[in-house]
Amino acid sequence: MNGKFLGLLLLGALSAGTLAAKDYLVSTRHTSLLIKADEGKQARFQYYGTKIAENEIDGIYNADLAYWAETYPCFGISSYGEKAFAVAHSDGNMSVDLVVEGVRQYSDEEADITEITLKDKVYPLVVKQYYKAYKGTDVISTWVEITNNAKKALTLYKFASASLPVKRADNWLTHFHGTWGAENMMEEEKLTNGQKVIANKEGIRNTQTDNPSFMLTLDGCPQEENGRVIGASLAWSGNYLMKIIADNSRINVIAGINEEVSHYILEPKETFVTPELAMTYSSEGKGGVSRAFHRWARAYKLNQGNKERDILLNSWEGVYFNVNQEGMDQMMKDMSAMGGELFVMDDGWFGDKYPRNDDKTSLGDWTVCKEKLPEGIGGLLASAKKHNIKFGIWIEPEMVNTKSELFEKHPDWVLSQDNRPLTTGRGGSQVVLDLTNPEVQDFVFGVVDKLMTEYPEIAYIKWDANAALMNYGSHYLPSQKQSHIYIEYHRGMNKVLERIRAKYPNLVIQACASGGGRVNYGFLPYFNEFWTSDDTDALQRIYMQWGVSNFYPSIAMASHVSANRNHQTGRVLPLKYRFDVAMSARLGMEIQPKDMTDADKAFAGRAIAAYKKIRPVVQFGDLYRLVSPYDKKGIASLMYATPEKDKAVLFVYKTEHFLNQLMPDVVLSGLDENKTYRITDLTPENEQKPSALNGKVISGKILKEAGLSVASALRAEYSSLALLFEVVD
Ligand code: DGJ
Repeated sequence: MNGKFLGLLLLGALSAGTLAAKDYLVSTRHTSLLIKADEGKQARFQYYGTKIAENEIDGIYNADLAYWAETYPCFGISSYGEKAFAVAHSDGNMSVDLVVEGVRQYSDEEADITEITLKDKVYPLVVKQYYKAYKGTDVISTWVEITNNAKKALTLYKFASASLPVKRADNWLTHFHGTWGAENMMEEEKLTNGQKVIANKEGIRNTQTDNPSFMLTLDGCPQEENGRVIGASLAWSGNYLMKIIADNSRINVIAGINEEVSHYILEPKETFVTPELAMTYSSEGKGGVSRAFHRWARAYKLNQGNKERDILLNSWEGVYFNVNQEGMDQMMKDMSAMGGELFVMDDGWFGDKYPRNDDKTSLGDWTVCKEKLPEGIGGLLASAKKHNIKFGIWIEPEMVNTKSELFEKHPDWVLSQDNRPLTTGRGGSQVVLDLTNPEVQDFVFGVVDKLMTEYPEIAYIKWDANAALMNYGSHYLPSQKQSHIYIEYHRGMNKVLERIRAKYPNLVIQACASGGGRVNYGFLPYFNEFWTSDDTDALQRIYMQWGVSNFYPSIAMASHVSANRNHQTGRVLPLKYRFDVAMSARLGMEIQPKDMTDADKAFAGRAIAAYKKIRPVVQFGDLYRLVSPYDKKGIASLMYATPEKDKAVLFVYKTEHFLNQLMPDVVLSGLDENKTYRITDLTPENEQKPSALNGKVISGKILKEAGLSVASALRAEYSSLALLFEVVD
């Protein structure tokens, strides 16, 4: 019996404890990752791909598939390759040589965990590397915990979460670039040799530039349901860096916190924990990667990921800062009459000394503006009760305006430098609170706590953040640790969020950051959803939501029906089109209902009723992206299906309009070829005249293999379809 199999036997016999085994398999339902960890040697990343059994490990070596890549390459000994880790010891030596001290494999409630303890050969420096296989999913996450056991501090210059080797082939990279109002636009490119960097250095809205997520294909052009793809997302809400380094032999991905201007002084006995890099592998194309992330998110990385979301009206685009009791009451009444379940009062409700009438004042003063709301929040809650609708409220607790009582009282609570004037953001007066400071953390926690203690009926909070981290300087951190600000800000934030969640586990909270600036798995575990973008134009949303859907589930993707003409793009779109787009995610409205015609209100009522019917399918179903808007085929189409494939919802949108244009048939995935389905038109503009497809009965085999022609149904410009497929008994 060779050493490896003896090791594996021992592994089976012991559930925890240091083992002598050399090859360690980390497996999920359909994937495996293989690490070689010989005591006294460097740990090697050998394989990540389709699931293998322990008796197939030899096959990986026999097929010459093993990478032999260091799991955590360190600076200072070998010269070759990109490093994940670099430090300066207290004596000035800048080298690290980590070797395996031991490996433990154990399980907890959510995962099977492999913990590899690496130790420097000379210095008392320990790095524990983790691989966590989440139960019931296909996601494995990895991170490290770095402990300084020396008597003096050392400095961390590089501290990636992971180094991931990927097979070099005809690889394509998919990532999600953006800017304000056009977040998460999908980019796909053939990977050429050299370095590709996906990064953010903004400090707070870390997904306004690129999302910290990517997919890499292993065999050519990305496809939705075919091909081998690796997908990864970094669970961090601050500055991040993902480097994809390709040469003729190998791809290496280094991912973690962006270390630029963030070198970290690690005190004796202190442990630095990096964020998780969550990964999956799928042989079912990008769709397989997305579905794996969605399932994982709903089970582990989203607050109440298994609870249906309410249909809401948000006041922002309806009234902007013009908030008052009568106006809010009217919006609640109108939304409730259309079947809505929740009303959210956005910006403009607060500020006692300085009423919040625009974006120049009052952030920090979270008391009701009595001029606008003489009956206070109590009056609003009474309205909500009267109209049988839940009530939610907007806050931006990390921020302060220089014209505010908070700033007058605590100028030192703001990130700033003593010897330079303040640079301000939004409204020419917005600055950022110093969340590294525990007093500020108490204050921010207190904003939520005070609201919820006084008004426990509040059902929803929209948590906004509209500034970059400016004026890099903390009055709380010591001078030699100013380089910790970007990191400590988010650690401080997480402490606040932990406290909020411990006390208010059921409160629904939306993560908003000037729109989609915080769509990341560092922030989301504390939130129920995110605001996808300030751009509510339904046509542009098709592209953005498509991008977001690659890693984030529809249940978390807030999508609102807004006014005609759209306030951001000026586009005029049919109400049906706007609803059909919003209904493909977490449906809401962001419109002044009193400006809607009776016919529009009646349509909205019917669409909301239809969404209630399909809500479990959209919010918990499996997503299949069918026709990409990025392929410029004149239409875009996606669908959701229950895991049992007894119900599915199909959305089709016309994205271009020409006479006699070519239009592809929509071939439906996610159905059962042995079942037969009846179609219902969910959102006919005229109830008496549903789509000609309404009521049609078609076999799953035809729908999956031949598809559905939508050309006749989509003759008009900006026409769309929302169709329900139900199994016929
Ligand atoms: C930015 C958000 O993205 C908007 O939805 C809105 O809440 C405004 N802030 C309010 O100031």
